[in-house]
Amino acid sequence: MARQRLREARRWARAGAVLRDLQERCAAPVERLRQVADAMVAEMRAGLASNDSEGDSGSSVLLKMLVTYVDSLPSGDEKGLFYALDLGGTNFRVLRIQFGGKEQRIVKQESKTVSIPQHLMSRGSNELFDFIAAALAKFIASEGEGFYLPEGMQRQLGFTFSFPVKQNSVASGTLIKWTKGFAIDEMVGKDVVAELNKAIKRQGVDMEVTVLVNDTVGTLAAGRYVDNDTVAAVILGTGTNAAYIEHMDSIPKWCGPPPESGNMVINMEWGNFRSTHLPLTEFDVALDAESLNPDEQIYEKLISGMYMGEIVRRVLLKMAQDASLFSDNVPLELEVPYILRTYHVLMMHQDTSPDLRTVGNKLKEVFRIEDTCFKTRKLVVDVCEVVASRAARLAAAGIHGILKKLGRDVASPDKQKTVIAVDGGVYKHYTFFAQCMESTLRDLLGEGVASSLVIKLAEDGSGTGAALLSASYSQRLQAVDD
Ligand code: GLC
Repeated sequence: MARQRLREARRWARAGAVLRDLQERCAAPVERLRQVADAMVAEMRAGLASNDSEGDSGSSVLLKMLVTYVDSLPSGDEKGLFYALDLGGTNFRVLRIQFGGKEQRIVKQESKTVSIPQHLMSRGSNELFDFIAAALAKFIASEGEGFYLPEGMQRQLGFTFSFPVKQNSVASGTLIKWTKGFAIDEMVGKDVVAELNKAIKRQGVDMEVTVLVNDTVGTLAAGRYVDNDTVAAVILGTGTNAAYIEHMDSIPKWCGPPPESGNMVINMEWGNFRSTHLPLTEFDVALDAESLNPDEQIYEKLISGMYMGEIVRRVLLKMAQDASLFSDNVPLELEVPYILRTYHVLMMHQDTSPDLRTVGNKLKEVFRIEDTCFKTRKLVVDVCEVVASRAARLAAAGIHGILKKLGRDVASPDKQKTVIAVDGGVYKHYTFFAQCMESTLRDLLGEGVASSLVIKLAEDGSGTGAALLSASYSQRLQAVDD
C-alpha cells in the first residue's frame, strides 16, 4: 500500500515537472513581447523593401508583405448583387449579397458552407477547383427571391483565397506556397484566378472573377464598411495572418505609379514570422519538423487553430510517457497526430463544471481514456491554459507591432480611434484566448493608448469583404469603360 502511494506521488511529481517546465518555456512576459513586436516591425520594413520577399519559400525575407493592389476600401456606396467564394481552411463558403448603397447597406444575403474532403487538399488542382465550382454552380441555381441582377449583366465574384499569392493585379495572382495542410504541388506558381475561371467554365456558369483577395484583406474591407477607423485586420483561425493599410511612401519595393489614394493594403503573411525572442519548446520544434511545411510558418504554428490542439496532444503524450499520467501504458490514440483539435482544447479549458466533466468526456471521446480523476483533468486544463496564453500573448505582440509601424502605439493629441477587425474561429469561440489577447494588448499599450483602440469582431468578414470589393472594383472598371 505504502509502495503504491509512493509510486503515485512520484507520478504526480513527474507530471508536475513537465507542466512547470512547459510554463517556464512558454512564458511570454511583457518585456519579451515588446522584443517580439520590435522584431515584427523590423521584418515588416524588410519585407516592404525587398523585391525578393514575394518570391518562393526559399526567400530569406520572413514577411512577404504582399502588395494586394487594393488601394481603396469600400465606401458604403456599393450597390447591386455580388458573389463571393471564400476558400482557406477545411471549409469553403459561397455567398451572395445584395448591396443597397449608403442607406440600405446589406439588403439581403445568403451563404452556404461546404466542407472540403481531406483528400482534395493534396490531389490535383482540377479536382479541388471542380469541386468548388460545382458547389458554386449549385448555389447559383438555387437563387431565391430578393436578389436582383440587371438584365444582361454578368455575375461578379470576389474570390477569397487565403494563402500567400503574388498578385499581378487586383484580379490575378500566382500561388507562392501552400499553408495550413494544403499540398497540391502542381498549383504552386499558377494563377489561381485562371484555374478557378476554367473550372467555372467547365460547369457552364457565366461569371467573372473581379477581385482576388486574402481573407485578411476581405476582413479589412468588411471592417472598413462598418467603421471608417478600421486600419488593420487579423485572422485567428485555422491559420493566422494580418493585413493593414500602408502609405505608398513606405513601400520601397513598389515600382509602378502610385495609386490616387496614396495607400495600399498589404497582406503581411505574418504566419511566417519567427524570431529568437519567440518562446519555443521541444514540442514546437518536433511539431514543425514533422509538419508538411517544416521551417515555415513558425509564428502560425504557435498561435493558430490548426496547431494548438496538436501542441497540447504532444505535451499530454510526454506526460503519459514520463509520468504514466493516464495509465501504466500510453494510450494508443494519444500518439495519433492532430487527433486533438483546438475546439477540443477550448471546450476542455472552458469547462466550468465542478468535476471538470467535459474534460473527462473529451479525454474519453478523443483518446479513449476512461475514468480520469479530478487531478488529471485539472492538469490537462493547466496544459491548455499555458498553450493558449502563449498563443494569445504572441498574437497581441503581433498587433502591437502593426500599431507601432503605423505610429499608433502612442497617444495622439486628438485621441484618434484605431479599429482592428478580427475574424476566425479561435478569436470567435475561444473566449479565454480573446480576453487574454486583449488584456495583454492593454498591458503593452498602457491604458491611455488602449482606450482609443477597438478590437472588433468582423463576423464572416472575409467573404463579405470580397463581395464588397468585387462591387467597388467592378464599379471602378465600369467607370473606366464608360
Ligand atoms: C495562412 C495563410 C494566409 C491566411 C491565414 C489565415 O497563414 O498563409 O494567407 O491569411 O492562413 O487564414
